[in-house]
Amino acid sequence: MVGRRKLIVVSNRGPVIHDRDTSGERVARRGGGGLVTALRSLVEHHDVTWIASAMSDEDRVVAAEAEEEAIEETARGGAPYRLRLVAHDPSAYDWYYNVIANPMLWFIQHYLWGLAAAPDVDHGLHHAWNEGYVPVNRNFADAVLAELEREPEAAVFFHDYHLYVAPTLVREQAPHALLAHFVHIPWAMPEYWRVLPEPIRRAVHEGLLANDVVSFHTQRWRQNFLRCCEDMLDVEADFSTCDVRIGERFACVRARPISVDPQEFDEVAGSEIVLAEEEAIAAGRPEFLILRVDRTDPSKNVVRGFRAYELYLDAHPEMHERVQMLALLDPSRQDIPEYAEYLGAIQRAARVVNDRFQREGWVPLDLQIRDNFLQAVAAYKQFDVLLVNAIFDGMNLVAKEAPLVNARDGVLVLSENTGAHEELGDWALTVNPFDVAGQAEAIHEALTMAAGERRRRREAIAAHVREHDIAGWIEAQLADLDEARERLGSPLSA
Ligand code: F6P
Repeated sequence: MVGRRKLIVVSNRGPVIHDRDTSGERVARRGGGGLVTALRSLVEHHDVTWIASAMSDEDRVVAAEAEEEAIEETARGGAPYRLRLVAHDPSAYDWYYNVIANPMLWFIQHYLWGLAAAPDVDHGLHHAWNEGYVPVNRNFADAVLAELEREPEAAVFFHDYHLYVAPTLVREQAPHALLAHFVHIPWAMPEYWRVLPEPIRRAVHEGLLANDVVSFHTQRWRQNFLRCCEDMLDVEADFSTCDVRIGERFACVRARPISVDPQEFDEVAGSEIVLAEEEAIAAGRPEFLILRVDRTDPSKNVVRGFRAYELYLDAHPEMHERVQMLALLDPSRQDIPEYAEYLGAIQRAARVVNDRFQREGWVPLDLQIRDNFLQAVAAYKQFDVLLVNAIFDGMNLVAKEAPLVNARDGVLVLSENTGAHEELGDWALTVNPFDVAGQAEAIHEALTMAAGERRRRREAIAAHVREHDIAGWIEAQLADLDEARERLGSPLSA
């Protein structure tokens, strides 16, 4: 176990969102998303200042009251940390989040643009970059620089695709700061990045290389990033050590697969509220349950998953009334037209399946669109087949979480383009996300697999996740920071 560190964590979404309850009291709700959960244990073991965007109206009030300082917060479990909320100009934030980060960067990094038709890189896109993405990144960089002035020894830990430019801006003012960046989504191959005009794609890659450490979930994304650096910048990438030389500096590029906290999942899975949710699922389910749990994101490939299930039902009339697909989908990014349209496409595709096969007393596809994490954990315990058919996915934590608590030796059907596949592929049924016929066959194979084989595979996944847990992920990154600090030549304060 490494010693206690001074860390500045920077992410768009913070660990809490402030709100007012019905009596008008200020309350801090836990922020959404897997990243926040993953980083929580950092707060427990280290001196963390977390810099994040003010998301709600109440966040903005908190930010204004704090007058560009951090406030003291307490994490679940009692650990104290400092939270610095950055209130951006609302229009700038809209361009940054709804035009550049999602969909532009997200769609590039998940290969979601059908290039014959989209995107148009027009004045709007340039404007959103110059007046949205860059200024919001500058706000983050200013906040980091202010915190570094207070704690010059602290390591800065940027997260994700919202913050590609901030490291350049920090590096300009603080050349000796220790900077790391974790990219939680895939990295596309060089040709696909050429969707973006040269100055923008150059700024993205230069920004990441302004860090001392750049990390991805898999070797595949890391390899693509190294190729992109060579292709787009005048730098030398060493594909064996995975370091990039930028003049006199180095950036270490690492593959560190994120994981979950198995103990936390065990506790949640055994909680009364999850048991009640599970009872409800068990009471309504037929003999076999196929589960998917996702955000309503085009990268998750929900529509093709429904189509595959339709093909499966076509081919296996003997399974009618004996099987159900339960789709628990968290509505996501609905201010972005591509996402709103995709949610409509999901609903239409579900309708097609039910219109074709539904009978008195049997709903073949149960589509539930809401954010209910505890219900999802209850469903994790109940599935016979878990369908994870993402087009591309940085990791996909559902593939790790669900087999951990599953009580029926359910089988994981897993897209070869998820980060999780690099670790779990041997024990899953691998599918090509575009091959709906193959996915239908995989569903059949999973549902007819011998009990012993199902058990062997599920237990192997659970054992792997228990061994390679979130604590290991964090320790590996702190070790990477140590390595980078050594290169910079100054000892790390413990
Ligand atoms: O890594 C992708 C990610 O940023 C996750 O951390 C998070 O769960 C998800 O996307 C949600 O994104 P948003 O903040 O846009 O809702």
